[in-house]
Amino acid sequence: MIIAGNWKMNLTRPEAVRLVKAATMAGARMEQGGIVLFPPAILIDTAISALAGDNAVAIGGQDCHARTMGAHTGDIAAPMLAEAGCTWVLLGHSERRAEHHETSAVIAAKAEAALSAGLKVMICVGESLEQRESGAAEAVIAAQLRDSLPAGIAAAPLAIAYEPIWAIGTGKVAERADIAAMHDHIAAVLVGINADYASVPILYGGSVNAANAREILALDGVGGVLVGSASLQPDAFGSIIEAAL
Ligand code: PGA
Repeated sequence: MIIAGNWKMNLTRPEAVRLVKAATMAGARMEQGGIVLFPPAILIDTAISALAGDNAVAIGGQDCHARTMGAHTGDIAAPMLAEAGCTWVLLGHSERRAEHHETSAVIAAKAEAALSAGLKVMICVGESLEQRESGAAEAVIAAQLRDSLPAGIAAAPLAIAYEPIWAIGTGKVAERADIAAMHDHIAAVLVGINADYASVPILYGGSVNAANAREILALDGVGGVLVGSASLQPDAFGSIIEAAL
């Protein structure tokens, strides 16, 4: 089980420290690296210092560039994240796909850079409401997976987060049956790409909170959750971690 918190563009340093402490306390019984926090880049150092060596919690960047260095104002290279102590990077979040016009090909290039830097990558996929209502969700997700995964990479450093766009930050969680069905579909697509991908964890994300986490985590094929807003509240995030124990 992976319980991941995506802080997005939120939190001050003291708030970040409080959240890391809450996560390490709640995660005391979790496996090493079972909790992954994605702070904004400027809070990565603060988060890593606040861990004080705890190894249940891993830290990741929210994005990285496809190049290792150079003239890319405002961007962060994967080796910089690794040097700062990150072990993960989140790629292809729907907010990046929408706000930064990132295509799946761009995400695959970033994933390749991240893997070369020794980072694990959590690649997000998700359909829009229109795509779901028109019956295109499965095809959209299959295409996003095929195009966002660089060719020939190993299963070990990889996780997929299924986040229906209409469920992110809206309080609308996908129907349990739809989550389970999409996770089955994603697992089948992954195995079709590479038989080793049967072991890749598939997380659900989209309005996960302290009240619904247990039920979502119990669904077949759900290997964890990627939490946005509720990951900003120490108590709520602590309860979500407890739900995974
Ligand atoms: P949410 O965000 O939990 O606020 O819906 C999830 C995400 O975007 O990763």
